[in-house]
Amino acid sequence: MKLIIAYIQPERLTQVKQALYEAEVFKLSVTNALGCGQQKGYHETYRGTDIEVNLLKKVRLEIAVNDDFVKPTIDAIIAGARTGEIGDGKIFVLELADCIRIRTGECSQAAIG
Ligand SMILES: Nc1ncnc2c1ncn2[C@@H]1O[C@H](COP(=O)(O)OP(=O)(O)OP(=O)(O)O)[C@@H](O)[C@H]1O
Ligand SMILES: [Mg+2]
Repeated sequence: MKLIIAYIQPERLTQVKQALYEAEVFKLSVTNALGCGQQKGYHETYRGTDIEVNLLKKVRLEIAVNDDFVKPTIDAIIAGARTGEIGDGKIFVLELADCIRIRTGECSQAAIG
């Protein structure tokens, strides 16, 4: 099991959700985030305008998946988020020790899927 964390441009969320849906990835958490990458925030453009702030608005996705869904999930995020411009985002893949569905007590793979 892996936990996939991705930071994407907020305006790409709709396309990323659509791509995930087409890859049959339906469970996800989404939060607003602030962050900066290798440009340290400066020199990035947001909706066509140069902005000189250090922390830029991003959307953070968290998706816990069984191993056979790792690549489809990553591919979907890239398909929805990539424009080729700086600030397109970044994906982190973490080992996931366990997952428990509170209602049923199911664990691990059974609880994720
Ligand atoms: N090493 C990192 N650790 C934690 N968060 C990061 C890291 N790199 C990027 N992020 C998060 O991802 C967001 C998007 O990063 P971004 O796409 O700007 O990456 P980058 O490495 O600067 O690549 P690019 O040159 O394509 O912009 C950042 O605003 C930040 O929230
Ligand atoms: Mg950047």
